[in-house]
Amino acid sequence: MIVVLRLGHRIVRDKRITTHVALSARALGASGIILSGEKDNEIIESVNDVSERWGGEFFCEYRRDWKGVIREFKEQGFTIVHLTFYGIPLQQRIKELREKNILVIVGGEKVPRAVYELADYNISVTNQPHSEVSALAIFLHECFNGQELFKSFENARLKIIPQERGKKVLTDSS
Ligand SMILES: C[S@@+](CC[C@H](N)C(=O)[O-])C[C@H]1O[C@@H](n2cnc3c(N)ncnc32)[C@H](O)[C@@H]1O
Repeated sequence: MIVVLRLGHRIVRDKRITTHVALSARALGASGIILSGEKDNEIIESVNDVSERWGGEFFCEYRRDWKGVIREFKEQGFTIVHLTFYGIPLQQRIKELREKNILVIVGGEKVPRAVYELADYNISVTNQPHSEVSALAIFLHECFNGQELFKSFENARLKIIPQERGKKVLTDSS
């Protein structure tokens, strides 16, 4: 089980990227996302609306106290992984990470020093700067060993029937 903690959301600047972090987390097999930073009900509503229409059990919620979130997940036996370009390359730790329940932390513009210390692992996805969306996507893909690509989403009201060309969407009324 993997849950994402997204730190440092800013309503004005990060709406789009935080939404993309959440939708990528959902599509690529995470169980849920906890948002911290500024409280943004619009994102929570839009992600929960996607889950309601496209199925699955993904949760999206807000917690101001991110240190409390880390503490609670540690108490439940989760391993805390912080994605940062300063960390140890993912490929050096992936085998041991695949066996664990994980709270994976992605930052925003500035990540507090305490995150590096509270994390059990500080992990990089290359040591080049890029984005929380790409770092999270590759992390999930590696942790699930590609199996997330086969995930089915239960109780969906909308479902795409893949086509070579064109678009086909089943709705629960069709
Ligand atoms: C735009 S970056 C900002 C990084 C910021 N300067 C910091 O203090 O780490 C936002 C987030 O993307 C993720 N990220 C970006 N590049 C990464 C990489 N190469 N490996 C792992 N995570 C990365 C990290 O979670 C980071 O907190």
